[in-house]
Amino acid sequence: MTGDGTRAVRAGLPEPRANEPALPGPAFAAHYHLPGEVAGPYTYGREGNPTWTALERAISELEYPAGVPAAQTITFPSGMAAISAVLLSQLRPGDTAVLPADGYQLLPALRERLEGFGVTVRTAPTGDDAQLGALDGARLLWIETPSNPGLDVCDIRRLADAAHDRGALVAVDNTLATPLAQRPLELGADFSVASGTKALTGHGDVLLGYVTTLAPELAAAVRAWRKTTGAIPGPMEAWLAHRSLATLQLRVDRQAATALALARALHDRREVTSVRHPGLPDDPAHAVALRQMHGGRFGCVVSFVLPDRPHAERFLAALRLVDEATSFGGVRSTAERRGRWGGDAVPDGFIRFSVGVEDTDDLVDDVLTALNLAQTNGV
Ligand SMILES: Cc1ncc(COP(=O)(O)O)c(C=O)c1O
Repeated sequence: MTGDGTRAVRAGLPEPRANEPALPGPAFAAHYHLPGEVAGPYTYGREGNPTWTALERAISELEYPAGVPAAQTITFPSGMAAISAVLLSQLRPGDTAVLPADGYQLLPALRERLEGFGVTVRTAPTGDDAQLGALDGARLLWIETPSNPGLDVCDIRRLADAAHDRGALVAVDNTLATPLAQRPLELGADFSVASGTKALTGHGDVLLGYVTTLAPELAAAVRAWRKTTGAIPGPMEAWLAHRSLATLQLRVDRQAATALALARALHDRREVTSVRHPGLPDDPAHAVALRQMHGGRFGCVVSFVLPDRPHAERFLAALRLVDEATSFGGVRSTAERRGRWGGDAVPDGFIRFSVGVEDTDDLVDDVLTALNLAQTNGV
């Protein structure tokens, strides 16, 4: 098998053909020529598009390099559309789902909707594989590892085996790790699901989501869901996403290395507490992360806590190389006081920091300078 960078550069590309581009441009089509009988592969724009096909092949190659059995990917216009497609296509009234208690902040809204449809929802934290205790009678287990924004990690293989023993399906939100760091299908999950809005596309200019699975019947159900709800990605977004994959390894490697350097620097500051990053050797998530995340890629996010909200706001305002913005995984570093959204159980001074691809020393200097200013300006 080729290396990750080589696979990322070539993922999903067609066979080279004289006088054709390496990556064909986006196909803008609401309908296709369709004389006579209805026959595939492309009939109507809501059902299929060659630009999606190429991107979906690329993501399948990254999520499941073994290629046998063949993985199928279905792309969506956002991560939430992909998550909803799995949960709402698989769960029926009377079913039970187990969600993480500390997952992405829109999961509670999805929980309410599922409960409105007669699905029972249980939650348990990501850390210490606590979802194990909630699996009896479940039809579907939803895992998010590393979790956003707390950066806890759970053992996908262990949870997937336990869920399968009880007849439950397993879906893993692979957003933070990316398929270059973590491959849930190899660890036994039935679905790998992600927001491609983050590190996968990495430029902060595209929203995208995807679902990858090895089971043809699960792929068919998710594809049918997309067709029925019309939750389809635009060809331009799909093409931009595919183009971005060529630099995926460069970006995630640089981001992971800088994130670790930043986490170490934060560790040494007296006013900073609860620094979390799965790559830190003394982080509670490190041992499991080391086992199931590849290549020292522990993600681009570092979280930490400043003494209070004003201190955190002074810090954010003093940063020069870091945009105050939400989301993560982009080439430009961003940071925010996560509590401002109200959806996560975090202290007022909690900062979620997303490391970009700036030079490591520049970024660490900027953060340390901002920390100094935040302290001085506060007295
Ligand atoms: C872990 C995780 N999953 C899913 C999503 C939702 O993705 P999107 O914003 O593309 O809908 C996010 C967004 O931040 C996320 O962090």
